[in-house]
Amino acid sequence: MKAIVQDAYGSPDGLALREVDKPVIKDDEVLVRVHAASVHPDVWHVVHGRPYVLRLMGAGLLRPKNRVPGTDVAGHVESLGKDVTRFRLGDEVFGETFRGSQWRNGGAFAEYVSVPQDTLALKPANITFEQAAAVPTSGLIALQNLPEGRLRPGHKVLVNGAGGGVGSFAVQLAKAYGATVTGVDHKTKLDMVRSLGADRVIDYTQEDFTRSGERYDLIFDVPGNHAFADCRRALKPEGTYVLIGHDRFGDVGSRWLGSLPHFFRLMALSMFRSQLPKMSSSMPSKRDSMAVLKELLETGKLTPVVDRTFALGEVPEAIRYLTEGEARGKVVIVM
Ligand SMILES: NC(=O)c1ccc[n+]([C@@H]2O[C@H](COP(=O)([O-])OP(=O)(O)OC[C@H]3O[C@@H](n4cnc5c(N)ncnc54)[C@H](OP(=O)(O)O)[C@@H]3O)[C@@H](O)[C@H]2O)c1
Repeated sequence: MKAIVQDAYGSPDGLALREVDKPVIKDDEVLVRVHAASVHPDVWHVVHGRPYVLRLMGAGLLRPKNRVPGTDVAGHVESLGKDVTRFRLGDEVFGETFRGSQWRNGGAFAEYVSVPQDTLALKPANITFEQAAAVPTSGLIALQNLPEGRLRPGHKVLVNGAGGGVGSFAVQLAKAYGATVTGVDHKTKLDMVRSLGADRVIDYTQEDFTRSGERYDLIFDVPGNHAFADCRRALKPEGTYVLIGHDRFGDVGSRWLGSLPHFFRLMALSMFRSQLPKMSSSMPSKRDSMAVLKELLETGKLTPVVDRTFALGEVPEAIRYLTEGEARGKVVIVM
């Protein structure tokens, strides 16, 4: 099969389109014939091998363990492991290609990929393969950090980074829960953010939301470019601050640990500040979260935004395009 192959950590220019063997599936896996796959910032992290800690966390110490990047796919089921019960041959599916964190290669940038049955869901019939491939990682991050129950109708929510992959889902989720939503991003993305249902938009080059005098019930912060102490000015006393975190493709965070020290500081502070969510040990599984995303897509409460598509051989260009910050919503690879 054709696949994008990464022999070493470094620039996306080192990625090459080659002929490789088809993956061999385990008993609880399905072989997916990939129709579309998507790019997100963690793909950049694993291609570059930065922050270095990801190499110790399973990506591969000296070079990537799995040579084929990409974690998000949509396609159809080509063959089934002997323990697979949830899918049949020919089913149209979408999902992440592995359990656990996105800080490793998942084999999605290829004609075929093996995927555990529990990280997949049936693709909703009302969306295309390109749209479905745009959902998994970004949709899961948005959903798991903005679960139903955290918001009530009428709550005021601010989504910082509303025009990117995760933010575009967070805006729609907050609207689906009945919140009034303010989206913050670059001026070039604000029409798109409004089209997703945002009631108000802010151009971050013109206005600092932490100094506007407005107070929110929840701040969902993707770029994390303001200190928590500044964000508190824009939070109601009983409000919640949720940090997603974005290393801006290596521009912020340390080479070794990225933004992890910042997360650990906030986690420690959450013992003293009620506005910071406590670490939860009861995170819903990917299987359950994918089922929720599927239903939200089917009912039209979520619509993936695909900015641009690239061919499989153009993965390096697609990653570069994402890092340039032009993309509104998601960047997708089509086979
Ligand atoms: N916390 C978790 O559970 C978790 C798990 C996995 C991954 N992650 C992280 O989640 C992040 C996902 O990001 P994404 O896919 O949404 O990235 P993205 O598509 O690059 O979107 C980020 C958005 O933030 C905007 N932005 C940049 N600076 C801003 C500022 N000062 N004010 C407001 N908006 C600003 C960007 O606009 P410009 O183009 O103008 O810069 C862009 O629209 C990744 O960094 C990933 O590592 C978190």
